[in-house]
Amino acid sequence: MELIATCAFGLEKIVYDEIKKLGLWVIKTEDGRVTFEGDESALVKANLWLRCADRILIKVGEFHAETFDELFDQTTDFEWENAITKNDVFPVDATSVKSALHSEPAIQSIVKKAIVTRLQKQYKTEILPENSGATYQIIVKANKDQFLLAIDSSGDSLHKRGYRTKANQAPMKETLAAALVKLSDWTPDRPLYDTFCGSGTIGIEAALIAKNIAPGLKREFTFHSWPWIDKALIEECYQEAKKSIRTDVKLNINCSELDPETTKIAESNAKNAGCGEIKFQTSDFRSLDFSKFENSTFISNPPYGERLDERSSVEKMYRQFGEKFQQSNNCSLFLITSNENFPYLFGRPADKNRKLFNGNIRCYLFMYS
Ligand SMILES: C[S@@+](CC[C@H](N)C(=O)[O-])C[C@H]1O[C@@H](n2cnc3c(N)ncnc32)[C@H](O)[C@@H]1O
Repeated sequence: MELIATCAFGLEKIVYDEIKKLGLWVIKTEDGRVTFEGDESALVKANLWLRCADRILIKVGEFHAETFDELFDQTTDFEWENAITKNDVFPVDATSVKSALHSEPAIQSIVKKAIVTRLQKQYKTEILPENSGATYQIIVKANKDQFLLAIDSSGDSLHKRGYRTKANQAPMKETLAAALVKLSDWTPDRPLYDTFCGSGTIGIEAALIAKNIAPGLKREFTFHSWPWIDKALIEECYQEAKKSIRTDVKLNINCSELDPETTKIAESNAKNAGCGEIKFQTSDFRSLDFSKFENSTFISNPPYGERLDERSSVEKMYRQFGEKFQQSNNCSLFLITSNENFPYLFGRPADKNRKLFNGNIRCYLFMYS
């Protein structure tokens, strides 16, 4: 079958690499999604192991449609009965971009009607109670009149690893934090610092990568309720993931944060994630002695000052951060912010920068190697 890993714009190449690392065959990479070939085992492993993807979908089909009749007819052509039995639940969720059919509720109801019509005919029944059985969330994505129909196998988005039971005010998605670590020069033998750690996501994701802990190990996915996926296969994939955890890695990950309550949250999240060895402290970065830091990697997501009244204090903070960072020895910095003037305020042009989205906020990852 064809599987699709969806992801935030800008993370496609990282997700592509992660899929290749699982030994799977990538068919194509497009904006926000990577399509790959795989069986049931690939479906389970992709959900369990991909750190930077949002969801794993099973592709049902693709077609061009500009009218509701075309959408209905082409949707009924697919063999929905191969996945959905007469008692299953199948909600439909649609998004539409730059398409003649732009009303998402209308697309949802036409696709639903088409699937119901197909199943009623196949099962020779008028009644599809949808009150028991497994759930098959149907995803419809229309882009420039090209429709993708798929079934979601993940349920909650993959950034919900299960370790972050509490979060601070502006937590970063775990998938983006993992991507920052992968885009940085950090290797587990190098000290890592996050001096604006919030709920600790960057440090925790780095530790999970270093210890080879599968990001999905602490949670379940929608596919767990699907009868056609062998329970023994699922168990085997989880057991294999548990066996591949590296217990021999010595970590030097240091997270600090201004707010004491937030530091406590971060510490508890790290313990939940099985990364209790991360060091946390409550401190203003301005009070840290940066001359002690050497040959280390800094990865941070400081406040952005999105609100107009916060902007000047955040810009002042970026200047102060630049002055402090100058005192460190041979350290690299990977900092994400929506403020495009960061290099000017920090006092040095970045060696590279990369556009990324933190939720809906367009950001830059400034890289100082
Ligand atoms: C955008 S949040 C970081 C979110 C974090 N990446 C996460 O996933 O939870 C920025 C954090 O910087 C902290 N902060 C603000 N000013 C600081 C300062 N002067 N020194 C250290 N931390 C500071 C805030 O308390 C906040 O938790």
